[in-house]
Amino acid sequence: MAVAGIVAGGSGQRMGGSMPKQFMELCGKPVIIRTIEAFLQHADIESVIIGINPDWYDYMSALVQKDFRNGVYITKGGKDRNDTILNIIEYARNTLHCNDNEIILTHDAVRPFVTEKMISDSIAEMDRCEICTAAIAAVDTIVVSEDGENVCEFPPRNTMYQVQTPQTFRIGSFSEVYGNLTENEKKTVTDACKLFSLNGYRVRLIDGDRNNIKLTYPSDFFLAEAIVGKSGS
Ligand code: CTP
Repeated sequence: MAVAGIVAGGSGQRMGGSMPKQFMELCGKPVIIRTIEAFLQHADIESVIIGINPDWYDYMSALVQKDFRNGVYITKGGKDRNDTILNIIEYARNTLHCNDNEIILTHDAVRPFVTEKMISDSIAEMDRCEICTAAIAAVDTIVVSEDGENVCEFPPRNTMYQVQTPQTFRIGSFSEVYGNLTENEKKTVTDACKLFSLNGYRVRLIDGDRNNIKLTYPSDFFLAEAIVGKSGS
């Protein structure tokens, strides 16, 4: 059995709008409700913990009370994404009494199309590693530019992947790797996988999905509506 940690503490600046994108309705249902349902429907997920900006705590509580009977918990989000993960992990330990060995799948609230297979594959991969992430092979050529004006590196496209979530590890290991970072690293490292990598862990890839998009800009909602339309949900 495993726990899902849904990071939902962001404000969605790039999306704009009157509320953070995770609360916006996608074909009549808030995005975050779709994401929670995807995890709750999986037989191996025993609880879902959501990290939310305190300003939206009451709003989220009302949504949870309306849609779910049990298994869904809310805690406060942090100043950045990793801080939100840390708060979720503290909640798992202190309130749900999870032990350090328990598996947690951390996932962006704004990726409602996570699949049953991705969840199963992530949990199974933990027999072989300390951290794994969903990813897809890059379709565009990715270049590196340090100044935003000139290209300084052309990595071969067949070695490039786009990282998605879930990102999966054991509850005890995140606090350990986060605690080892300098304050500067804490500010600049936004991805949990990179935290593990900086601490010498090998990060394993599991198959993501092209539909597992992160709703970021308004145009992403058009694509998301088409995906929901095709799946009939
Ligand atoms: N997130 C979080 N806590 C933060 C910042 C982000 O839990 N302090 C979450 C977001 O809610 C989202 C995920 O991390 O589910 C991915 O972040 P992103 O898409 O960048 O979300 P926002 O920060 O909300 O968007 P923007 O950068 O456009 O403001």
